[in-house]
Amino acid sequence: MYQNISAPPWTHHCIEDVDRRGSARGTARKNSTCRTGDMASDLSKRGTFIADSHSFLMKYGAQAIHNPYDEKNNPKGIVSMGMAENKLMEDILFERLSQPDMHGMSRDMLYYFKFSGTRDFRVSLANFITERFGTTRSVEPDNVMVVNGCGSALEQVASAVADPGEYLLCPSPYYSMVKFDCNIRGQVDCFDIPLTSQQENGKVRPFQLTLEDVEKAYQDATGQGLVVKGIFLLNPSNPTGDVYSPELLMDILLFAKRHQLHVIADEIYALSVFDSETQFCSVLALPNLPDPDKTHVLWGFSKDFALSGFRCGTIISSNKKLKTFIDNIAYYQCTPVLLQNMMRIMISDKKWLDSTYFPMNRQRMREMFTFVTNELEDLGIKCHPSKAAFFVWANFSPFMSEKTREEEMQLFQKLFAAGVYIIPGTELFCVDPGWFRVLFSLQKPYLQEGLKRLRSVLVRGI
Ligand SMILES: Cc1ncc(COP(=O)(O)O)c(C=O)c1O
Repeated sequence: MYQNISAPPWTHHCIEDVDRRGSARGTARKNSTCRTGDMASDLSKRGTFIADSHSFLMKYGAQAIHNPYDEKNNPKGIVSMGMAENKLMEDILFERLSQPDMHGMSRDMLYYFKFSGTRDFRVSLANFITERFGTTRSVEPDNVMVVNGCGSALEQVASAVADPGEYLLCPSPYYSMVKFDCNIRGQVDCFDIPLTSQQENGKVRPFQLTLEDVEKAYQDATGQGLVVKGIFLLNPSNPTGDVYSPELLMDILLFAKRHQLHVIADEIYALSVFDSETQFCSVLALPNLPDPDKTHVLWGFSKDFALSGFRCGTIISSNKKLKTFIDNIAYYQCTPVLLQNMMRIMISDKKWLDSTYFPMNRQRMREMFTFVTNELEDLGIKCHPSKAAFFVWANFSPFMSEKTREEEMQLFQKLFAAGVYIIPGTELFCVDPGWFRVLFSLQKPYLQEGLKRLRSVLVRGI
């Protein structure tokens, strides 16, 4: 029963603490108390906890949105190479979304609809995912649920599979809103599977995830008496841009089955693989999923379709209980039907997808990834050989006197003061200080301005 679950987080810690310390967990967090801010609050404890919670990405992202660089209108504004958006496809998207077929309004669009996705949209999504993700079986429209973003999808699935105070294992570094999404209302925690740049134990790549890493984290967590309910996988990874092999995915799914764990695979960057030699494998493309009822895939329109403003994410799962869970709460987190209709038309236009959108997107991403990587390497900053997503994952430690979180944050603050926003890796729970996530999926002149400011701080100290 809901009343019998363990204490909610506002009785023992703040998300701010969760976000800052990343891998801090369990008893350490239980000892810290939630600051309730300066304002006298007449909200509930839960209300106060949520109101006082901070996320690094939200805090600095908000400043970047508030004061955006513009060559003519705001030349002193912030160049944001932090917020995970793709602005390379604006012209092509705008042109397609402005065509007359997009604006067919029907009378039924004025009213309530099935909040977890209209039938038409879910049919198109099922066909699209079957084809583009190369699934072994056709995805059933009934197994596709639509919500207002992948963050929202995670928030819902995490709270459906784990109770307050329970954990999901998550390979780190990872996009830090994951922790926030799981925790802010669902009160679910993340237990990091720490990966480093060191290639130990037979690893052939920095930050490589192995089954042994997953097993060790599971033993560590359960050894501390924590209840682990699932594994959260970001594939392709944000921030490293790594893509997991089918073999590793299968090993992890089999491990999860042995321990009765759910697997939540966030595949939001599935179609943003820019490396021509790399093939993405969805868990839906694996033959014979070991535990289909406990395997849930998240995908959305914010990244692969560069439409973060449309607020649309999907959950693909055959778990009946999860489906009714989503149906019951979709009312609170749905995507407007007009937008569903536009996206339905867009993903059904195969000619445009195959001859224009996807090839152009991949080509532009490849060009900008190479451009930013070359510029950074020219400064002596080594970059990870990313294959997908929107980031150059770069080692700035040559510009730090010590490899510590404090030094990393100092460097971040200097760069931010100079008007360039990139994300320090320890804020993404990287255990190796010195790494930064640098967004490349932006127009070249904008990137040039950001890199000019970056170079100026690193080389001249201003
Ligand atoms: C890995 C990952 N998952 C989820 C999200 C959230 O996406 P949405 O805009 O669909 O909520 C992001 C956004 O940066 C992301 O990088």
